[in-house]
Formats: sequence, C-alpha cells, structure tokens
Amino acid sequence: MAAEREREKRILCVGLVCLDIISVVETYPAEDSDTRCVSQRWQRGGNASNSCTVLALLGAPCAFMGSLAPGHAADFIAADFRRRGVDVSHVAWQPRGDVPCACCVVSAASGSRTIVLYDTNLPDVTAHDFERVDLSQYKWIHWEAAMMRRVERHNRGRAAGERVRTSVELEKPREELLPLMGMGHVVFISKDVARHFGYRSAPEALQGLRGRVQPGATLICAWAEEGADAVGPDGELVHSDAFPPETLVDTLGAGDTFNAAVIFALSAGKTLQDAITFGCRIAGRKCGIQGFDGIV
Ligand code: ADP
Ligand code: FRU
Repeated sequence: MAAEREREKRILCVGLVCLDIISVVETYPAEDSDTRCVSQRWQRGGNASNSCTVLALLGAPCAFMGSLAPGHAADFIAADFRRRGVDVSHVAWQPRGDVPCACCVVSAASGSRTIVLYDTNLPDVTAHDFERVDLSQYKWIHWEAAMMRRVERHNRGRAAGERVRTSVELEKPREELLPLMGMGHVVFISKDVARHFGYRSAPEALQGLRGRVQPGATLICAWAEEGADAVGPDGELVHSDAFPPETLVDTLGAGDTFNAAVIFALSAGKTLQDAITFGCRIAGRKCGIQGFDGIV
C-alpha cells in the first residue's frame, strides 16, 4: 500500500527553462565565416527542463518549476511541456522580463555542442512561489537553485516513507554555490564545474569534494566519454564506463539526460551502481541521436 502511494508520487525539477535555437553543422565553422548548416530546429532547453523531458520519456510522472514570461517563446515552451506530459502548474509566470534563449551549434562531425546563452533578467522562482508546492505529492525534488530549506522542514520528523528525497546539481562554476553541496541527498557535479575547480577526472573531483556533502549523501560526477563515478552514503566508490553510440551526433543535454536517468533509477530503489550505469546508457543513446526522441 505504502509502496503504491510512493509510486504515484511525482518527481519535481526546479531550475532553468530556455529556448534553444539549434543549428546542426557538418563541421564547426571558423570565426567570421559565412556557411550553411545542415538543419535547424527550435528545442525547449535548460537543464531542469531537459531532465523533465527525459523523465517523461522514461515514464516517470514529473513536474517542472521555473520562471517564464508570456510571449512567443513561452507559448512554444509551454506547448512542448504539454506535448511531453510534463506538469507545469508550478511555473512562476513573471509579469516582465524575457525568456532566456540560447544559440546552440551542434557539430554532426564530433557531436560537440557550443552554447551561447542569453541569460536574461527574468526573475527566478522565489521561496514564496515554492511555499505553494504541496510537497506530499512528490517523492523526489531536483534543484539547480537554493530553495531546499522548506523541504528540509517538511522532512523533519516524518517517517522515512513520507520524506521527499532531494538532489541538487552544481552546474555553474561559482564559489558561492559550493555551500549548496551540503544540501540534498544526491549531489551532481558536472565535468565543466569540476574542471573549473582544477580537477582533471571524475575520481579526482569526488576525492576533492566528497567532504563538502552532508554525511550519508551521495556525490555523482559524469565525465563525457569517461562515463561517470560516484561515492555513496557509506563511502563506497562506483564507476560506470560510457556507452558510446555508434556515431556521436549531438551531446546537447547529455548531462541533463544522465541526471534524469540516475534520478529515475534511484527513485525506483535501484543501487547506486545500477543507477549510474543506467544514466550512462541512456545518456550514451542520447548522444547518438538529435534531440531526445528515441532515447527509450
Ligand atoms: P554535459 O557536458 O552535458 O554536462 P557530459 O559531457 O559530462 O555532460 O556527459 C554526461 C554523460 O553523457 C556521460 O556520463 C556519458 O555517459 C554521456 N556522454 C557524454 N558524451 C559522451 C560521449 N562522447 N560518448 C559517450 N557517452 C557520452
Ligand atoms: C544543456 C542546456 C541547454 C541550454 C544550456 C543552458 O545542458 O540545458 O538546453 O541552452 O544548457 O546552460
């Protein structure tokens, strides 16, 4: 019975949604050149938003929470969330500001993605917006932002089965975000951030940063073609190799895919080893296709 209730509960991802305008090129262009691309598409982007796409494709009921401002970009984004069956009732609609937009160049030759994001002045969701979320509907909350205190309050004094599990992604290499690692049951650190702090591999990053997570928490670091490494609640180290696709075509959102697949597996009770292996398998599949359709 309790397990059934748990299964009905959803996963909430809090963070960025933006419009990705993607040009797929044969090879990456030289600066100041004038070339043609192979194809172009609009795609709903942003880490939390991409992770929702992947969770929905994996069959997990999920919801997105982040800011949008009315207009063409938001219409496209809202319709795309709807198409995927992602709940958007917690979107914080802002009366002013612009929806962030990224120009992305995906090189079909290497699969590389070069992103230029215009992070506009759109206000973030606030603790006040978050007050309205009925936490009892969720079994897991994944964050890019710092609003975890309310969840901690909710969890205090609740039986294990009633607690919401939380994960946080340290996506930006900013010193002031490091304390966030001390929150959350699962902490994701991206390769780009780890590199910024001077680490040259996932095991090295885990070694250097494991002291910053709360006791009993899990720290996970994905590292492109090297796969991913993690350190679990009892200090056990696990590794998964990457699952390279036959042809590497598009790595835009590979990290978001990895995070979503790991959350999916952990929230279903899988072991850490199985979860990061699943994460690498799904992320590897994503790298072999344009966009997200076809990862499952
Ligand atoms: P991002 O740069 O999007 O944050 P990463 O490049 O670290 O994310 O990749 C996340 C996961 O995606 C990796 O753990 C791996 O499983 C998969 N992946 C990414 N790039 C490749 C690649 N070139 N070959 C195989 N798998 C990859
Ligand atoms: C991919 C992504 C893109 C977005 C950019 C924002 O991880 O979420 O969809 O444009 O990162 O940094």
